[in-house]
Amino acid sequence: MTGFEDIHGRDASWTVRDGAAHSRSVRAMFARIARVYDFMNHLLSLNRDRAWRRRVASLLDEETGEILDLCAGTGDLALETMRAGKGRAWVAADFCPEMLAGAVGKRGAERLSLAAADAMALPLRPRSVDAVVVGFGVRNFADVQRGVQEIERVLRPGGQLLVLDFFRDDPDGTRQAKGVASRLRILLNTFVPLVGRLVGRDGSAYRYLSQSMGAFLTPREFAELLQEHGFTEPLIDRQTFGIAHIVGARRKE
Ligand SMILES: C[S@@+](CC[C@H](N)C(=O)[O-])C[C@H]1O[C@@H](n2cnc3c(N)ncnc32)[C@H](O)[C@@H]1O
Repeated sequence: MTGFEDIHGRDASWTVRDGAAHSRSVRAMFARIARVYDFMNHLLSLNRDRAWRRRVASLLDEETGEILDLCAGTGDLALETMRAGKGRAWVAADFCPEMLAGAVGKRGAERLSLAAADAMALPLRPRSVDAVVVGFGVRNFADVQRGVQEIERVLRPGGQLLVLDFFRDDPDGTRQAKGVASRLRILLNTFVPLVGRLVGRDGSAYRYLSQSMGAFLTPREFAELLQEHGFTEPLIDRQTFGIAHIVGARRKE
């Protein structure tokens, strides 16, 4: 952690990191856990991850055309939007081919266009997609602002962005909400790496995943960042006692 602050006084150490080195280690980490990723996801979230993705899909406009699932991993978020009847074409993009390979064979996956791509430099034309969804990906970006700028570039004006992630607890949240969230966080910080070591045989990867939750932006800070980068109509949707949040916005017309 570098501990520097951005112009609003927020801790910006999680918005910019040593790009190449960070990307390499994140990609290698996901390559290591790719084979157990889905199983671990459902186990560690007690299957809540499915409901959270369904909620993202339900928030998409009915008339959405092309959907980009960025940091798609094994494709579950794109497939959930397809199941919800949202979208006519789907691109599942991720910079870890081992994760994308996990989508192959899933019901509906034959309709996904799988793309090995880095969110920091998307191989897509400006204004070419109608909606972008990101599930548990933004927290891993080497440069969060850069990632948001790329999303803004490829989205058509008025297009939706929906980000599902484990954000940092809001310090202004109610005491009760903070209490529940922080107890769950302590549980996650101990439980997740332990189960990761036992089942996934990779405690360090799961330690990274749980620790990165506590160090990321809050949902409100992320919504502000979106508004500073060409987005409007911010939306914050709290999931399961605030363990996860969906933060959304629309690209300005
Ligand atoms: C926690 S997984 C989430 C997978 C999936 N979206 C889901 O809902 O389960 C995070 C994924 O983000 C990908 N990722 C992280 N940084 C990325 C980047 N800069 N560009 C593309 N993919 C990235 C990783 O390879 C990994 O597959």
